Amino acid sequence: MQAVNVGIIGLGNVGSGTLAILTENAEQIALKLGFQLRVKALCSRSLNTKQQPEDSIFRTADWREVVAHPEVDIVAELVGGTQVSREIIDGAIAHKKSVVTANKELMALCGAEIWDRAISAGINLAMEASVAGGIPIHTVLREGISGDRVTTLYGILNGTSNYILTEIEKHGSSFDSVLQEAQRLGYAEADPSADVDGYDARSKLAILAALAFGEKITPSDIYTEGIRRILPLDFQYAHKLGHTIRLICGAHQTPAGLILSVRPALIPQSTILAGVQGAYNAVWVRGKYGQDTFYYGRGAGAKPTGVAVVSDLMRVAREIRSGSPERVSPFAHERLGEYRPVSVVLQTRGYYLRFRVKDRPGILAGLSGILAAKSISLDAVLQLPTGTKRDLPFVITVEPTYEHAIREAVAQMAQLDFLLEPPLALPMETAL
Ligand SMILES: NC(=O)c1ccc[n+]([C@@H]2O[C@H](COP(=O)([O-])OP(=O)(O)OC[C@H]3O[C@@H](n4cnc5c(N)ncnc54)[C@H](OP(=O)(O)O)[C@@H]3O)[C@@H](O)[C@H]2O)c1
Repeated sequence: MQAVNVGIIGLGNVGSGTLAILTENAEQIALKLGFQLRVKALCSRSLNTKQQPEDSIFRTADWREVVAHPEVDIVAELVGGTQVSREIIDGAIAHKKSVVTANKELMALCGAEIWDRAISAGINLAMEASVAGGIPIHTVLREGISGDRVTTLYGILNGTSNYILTEIEKHGSSFDSVLQEAQRLGYAEADPSADVDGYDARSKLAILAALAFGEKITPSDIYTEGIRRILPLDFQYAHKLGHTIRLICGAHQTPAGLILSVRPALIPQSTILAGVQGAYNAVWVRGKYGQDTFYYGRGAGAKPTGVAVVSDLMRVAREIRSGSPERVSPFAHERLGEYRPVSVVLQTRGYYLRFRVKDRPGILAGLSGILAAKSISLDAVLQLPTGTKRDLPFVITVEPTYEHAIREAVAQMAQLDFLLEPPLALPMETAL
């Protein structure tokens, strides 16, 4: 059967990993497909500095020459961002080329619209690499467990944040020093905000939740909070409570609707998610019929993400050669009602409240008075022998209560003059 030709735009981490796999693994890929998947064109602005195969591949610094190349069947958009990448994908669709992308940000923002245009143009759009790098979670939700009815999805979807949290946990180092080390090792970007403030994970959760629940989800539906305020002592208190802390991407169905959040949370040390260390990612899905399934692997990196891109290229190539059935959007365009996103303040959880205070009499009475006025029941008060009288940390945990009550209480507490900073409130997840 005639070969299917690929044009790769972007030869950074993912592009170079993809190229290496397509080159080194070409023979086995051809055996699995029954035809060759050939790299026909390569594009990067600094092509000369990139390691490339020796043969007669068309090379350019102008992506327009790849999307317009008459022999390219599939364009791999591996540039990232939302501007040039959007132009590349639009250009590819205009030239009736199928697209494989690793771009979570663009897919979360306007994937539904791009999908419609791709399908109307009779081509395909695949995005496995956009979420959780080497874990084939898109395929799992789209095919593997698509017959189930998902009720809850929890993920650790940002490797940088997970690396930082687990380093703070292991070594008791501060957020800033672990971040600097992560930047030195290349695990964190020079501008770490997308990772540590939760935005990268939010894009991934938007894509996964749309697929899992068949509901239209946008990033703005997701309550997002990063990990900058987590201190080593939060892990000491969490451990005392039999928990640890992870940046949890959560989507769960409640009678009110779908509650979506990306935020640091206490999770029991006994749960499988607590064992996810370093830069690894994991997704845990609960279905009404199939119950629990768990997926684990490398969330990023040239080769793991490259595998996801190459596997998408193989699937799209198969469809090009064998014809493709009519497809339904993975982005769900309708609000179905049952899974309508609702505010996180409707969530009921136990909460961990951590305070840093200037020590003086009456502190506990002041704080517990505010909780009592909101009908929030205290569960435990913990104070480890750390700190000084001028900066004394302690923790109150409370029984399950509505998040809106906790937020009101925390806002009121933040006005108290003995607090050195507003209280840190983290949900305590039990449903894992
Ligand atoms: N890194 C990961 O592990 C990972 C995992 C999952 C998903 N992703 C996603 O994969 C995508 C790529 O990420 P990455 O880490 O590989 O990024 P990267 O290392 O920064 O690579 C981006 C590449 O795009 C090229 N590029 C930028 N603007 C261009 C333009 N106008 N024309 C042609 N080439 C251009 C750059 O070439 P020059 O250097 O020559 O400018 C560079 O080779 C992003 O959407 C990212 O979110 C990454």
